[in-house]
Amino acid sequence: MFARAALLMALGLKPAAGDCPSWGKPFPSNLAGSGKISFASLYDVTYYDQYKVVEYSDTLSFYAASHREASLQGTRIPPMVLYQCGTTKPTTSMPGVPSNARFFEIPVKNATVGWGGPLIFLELLGVSQSIDLIDIRTISSPCMQLLEVCYPETHIPTSLPDWSANPDWTNRASRTDVVFTDSWGSGWGGDATKDVPFEISFDPGSLSRAEWIKFMALFYNEEAQAEHIFEQVKADYNALKAIGDQLRTDASTEYNGAQPKVMFVGQRGSSNAVTNAVYKTQLITDAGAQVVPLPTVAPAGCSFTDNTDGARMMSCDIPAGDAAFRAVLAEADVIIDESSLWPDYDPAKYRGFATIYNVTADQVPALARNPPNIFRLDGQVSDAFGDGNSVGSSWFDIQQSEPQQTLAGLMEAIWDRDFTSTCGQKYLWRVSNPSAQNVVGHQDCPLYSAQGQNDCQSLHDRLHTPPMCSPGNVFQTMTTTTVQSQEASAACRAGGALALAALVFAPFWAAF
Ligand SMILES: *[C@@H]1O[C@H](CO)[C@@H](O)[C@H](O)[C@H]1NC(C)=O
Ligand SMILES: *[C@@H]1O[C@H](CO)[C@@H](O)[C@H](O)[C@H]1NC(C)=O
Repeated sequence: MFARAALLMALGLKPAAGDCPSWGKPFPSNLAGSGKISFASLYDVTYYDQYKVVEYSDTLSFYAASHREASLQGTRIPPMVLYQCGTTKPTTSMPGVPSNARFFEIPVKNATVGWGGPLIFLELLGVSQSIDLIDIRTISSPCMQLLEVCYPETHIPTSLPDWSANPDWTNRASRTDVVFTDSWGSGWGGDATKDVPFEISFDPGSLSRAEWIKFMALFYNEEAQAEHIFEQVKADYNALKAIGDQLRTDASTEYNGAQPKVMFVGQRGSSNAVTNAVYKTQLITDAGAQVVPLPTVAPAGCSFTDNTDGARMMSCDIPAGDAAFRAVLAEADVIIDESSLWPDYDPAKYRGFATIYNVTADQVPALARNPPNIFRLDGQVSDAFGDGNSVGSSWFDIQQSEPQQTLAGLMEAIWDRDFTSTCGQKYLWRVSNPSAQNVVGHQDCPLYSAQGQNDCQSLHDRLHTPPMCSPGNVFQTMTTTTVQSQEASAACRAGGALALAALVFAPFWAAF
């Protein structure tokens, strides 16, 4: 940093200001000096004049025992000091700067994105310009897939030595300023001082997962934008939840006013499992339904397990626990089957619920219903990419940012003829209708041109507009964004196959 400033001065250039990216926002003056803000029990941010101190809570702050880098396993993730570009890097003698802090200059100019979870938030905030390195194989956002054409040099597989494993620190990830990973080391870049675990999968809330946009915003001074986006997501989610509340007791639905029971199930190794993470059970409850209750004592052949978010799950050995598992399935009105179709998510390879779980329609009413109330959650996937023909599922990268879309789709699945959202079904497809899966590729980004004249420059603007799913609700772009990015987001809304449903939005209604 100092050497570079000296060099610039020797060349007669202004040093400090040049260190800020032209597209970056200034330090949020409204928050400077405002003290500590806690984000649920997940992390705290304390604002000083030109820097922010970010500390993970005890729940989030440990590297997993299975982390790829042995020396980090089980250790505490150190706090981070994010300091404004063009200002002097803070020292540990300055107010609030922890002695073990790691320092990051913001807005971040040069980032590695280690997995799909953080990516959607970079896209929503319009800061994808900072992406220097990403593994495109399993990402599903059409405009981020366009990187493979516009900026092909950003892509290498995380598994290559060039990503992280070159011993002399010449690997790509450690040359960037920040590496967004998770505490298991997904996309680990080889340098602990640059590692920022994006811990969204620990968040026990359906709606609050979308609030991780605020965590990402810290690195880009995009707090106002993040607040603006999240408030609209929240309003839309809560409007849907209010509809769910009415449907819950509505005697005219197919459940005649009895609350339907819903569950997520999957298969792990040689066992069947109830996979009710907390965010999923919240989605079920907010949809106006109830979660199929687990037995109080683990039945023969089954055991209870704890999910990372604290949820109690049940796992039943095949075949010892089959009878008990079948008894739980029998209680459900709607079942979401997560059994894996990875790596290609090809619906044609789905073996059928009866075969996978060894049950008959006589035993499972959800399967007997016509059409069966069995759904899968890979309703939107990317097209195949690279040598391995890799495919990414939007459930894993985009879904967490838009719980309103997930809730709306779940309500459509549960309430069928009695509920239709304004954003359409995206993640869930009924297994009786395999053609319902939507494959999206870079050609679905509105900036793509079949003639090869892709508008790559606009890829850096805020392109992804969150869907709004309750009647009459339309996403409002923040008024201070540039005309350019407004146009880009309008184009995205009107042009994307992804957002077709947006065209049928009812008249304008502000969400807040
Ligand atoms: C990030 O830094 C590397 C290494 O200095 C450089 O080659 C690359 O162009 C930078 N990328 C961005 C997006 O600024
Ligand atoms: C399926 O369940 C039946 C009992 O209902 C059992 O006899 C049979 O072996 C099971 N089949 C498989 C493939 O596990």
